[in-house]
Amino acid sequence: MLALGLAPAPAAAEPTATSDTPLALTPPMGWNNWAHYMCDIDEAKVVANADALVASGLAAKGYDTVTVDDCWMTRSRDADGNLVVDTEKFPHGMAWLGEYLHAKGLKFGIYQDAGSLTCEKYPGSGSPDGGGPDHYARDARLFASWKVDYVKMDGCNLWVPPGKTKEQAYRDAYNAVARALRDSGRPMVLSASAPAYFQQGEWGSADWHKVIDWVGETGQLWREGKDIKVYSPAAPAASRWSSVLGNYGYNRWLGRYAGPGNWNDPDFLIAGAPGLTDAESRSQVALWAMMAAPFILSSDVSALTPGGLAALGNTDLIALDQDPMGRQGAVVSANATFEVLARPLANGDRAVAVLNRSAATRDISVPLADIGLYGCTVTAKDLWSGGRTEVAANLTGRLAGHDTAVWRLTPHEGCGDAVPTGQITGDGVKCADGANTTGVGAVVLAGCTAAADQRWVVAPDATLRLAGQCLAAGADGLVELARCAPRQPGQRWTHRRDGALVSAAYRLCLTAPAPPATADAPAERLRLADCGDHRVDQAWSLPV
Ligand code: GAL
Repeated sequence: MLALGLAPAPAAAEPTATSDTPLALTPPMGWNNWAHYMCDIDEAKVVANADALVASGLAAKGYDTVTVDDCWMTRSRDADGNLVVDTEKFPHGMAWLGEYLHAKGLKFGIYQDAGSLTCEKYPGSGSPDGGGPDHYARDARLFASWKVDYVKMDGCNLWVPPGKTKEQAYRDAYNAVARALRDSGRPMVLSASAPAYFQQGEWGSADWHKVIDWVGETGQLWREGKDIKVYSPAAPAASRWSSVLGNYGYNRWLGRYAGPGNWNDPDFLIAGAPGLTDAESRSQVALWAMMAAPFILSSDVSALTPGGLAALGNTDLIALDQDPMGRQGAVVSANATFEVLARPLANGDRAVAVLNRSAATRDISVPLADIGLYGCTVTAKDLWSGGRTEVAANLTGRLAGHDTAVWRLTPHEGCGDAVPTGQITGDGVKCADGANTTGVGAVVLAGCTAAADQRWVVAPDATLRLAGQCLAAGADGLVELARCAPRQPGQRWTHRRDGALVSAAYRLCLTAPAPPATADAPAERLRLADCGDHRVDQAWSLPV
């Protein structure tokens, strides 16, 4: 297997260079107004939240980038073509705000849009509809003059010129944005929203995967999907839990694209804000940390619940999120009740989380072998309680409804390397399943169950093993489980960055069957087919 997206982190350097300055080597952290205030922002609110980040101790723990989202400007540019700050909302202007934040040891982020208008219809940086000059360079220079450190570049209202596909138009626009930021002379982190404009459902489309594949060439992080549900003052108690699960849902399969300087962004942390219980707040922090997601709060920081604040400020969880290896955790197993994730860490530790999707308190027990640690004793630190236990067989605990347990496992001396173990997830969020439902050795695509016949091992010899047998490319175009003979190229697989599992023997791609005609039709077998361009039925999410 190729380990992808894992180039060693360059040594930390002073941000003096402009084109090769390493940015966001760990996931960005901070605050943004959008999910709590939306357009109802002003200088006082931004300053109050910046002050609260400092007073709460969160800033010192890394939450340092304060970003002003949409609606900070007036509806038109000035006579020179520059954006104009709305001085009713921001009486001292943006350079002042940047200075204020920098004096507090914070960084300054700002929102703009790569299309002609922002999502709230303020002037964007892109070409007008129908064509014409863009303002990428001008706006980047303005942001640099305000000492902006981080630009959230949204993708509403982006004009698609005739003769270009939407995907090409977004690619050209975001390349132009990145060039303009570089040419401004000031290192600024680019949060790119391009993929979010291509999302369809949880597994997505070929275009969505294509955009996620290129967006990291220029952006350090990218929103790839739906917004987290915003706070509604009219319905403050409305639950936002399903929105957390929804964003977790689409982000969890995309780990192959993450690494130092490149982060999948499932949107803001609303832990501790109205709409989540303490358990749900813990879950969001734990799941986001397992996924190396940006830790960007979007709430009224001074009004965070004590439980939410404790979760957000938990330094073990922050260290997990910020692990320098930057490897996004992956799903080991998922079913309607539990979800298990694992994440390798820079110092050889392994993090494990268990989400209880149900509303009931449940006992949990995760065999170490299920998460890739065989015949090994580990010291398990429960990152919520801080308690340590020696574990030789199963991680156990009791978990409240909607809560997430998270441990950091330190293998004892003599433990071998952990072996990526867990479900292989494909088209429609279904699982490669070795149950003998349609013939001896058959591998089908079935609903994910967390059962043993979906527990694959991604072995160091490039085989994919299930219950001691190897996934083998058969000459008939189907794949099957066979006695392992790793020298046979028909049993070796390469996992490409686009998610394709390529057979070393045939140069063909593992392909999911067409969805069954009816819900109760028997699951169909996986097969080999010519490798296409980011085909969704050829993208696979593997355990790490
Ligand atoms: C959305 C974006 C939100 C917020 C909003 C502002 O497209 O996802 O996070 O920035 O635009 O209008």
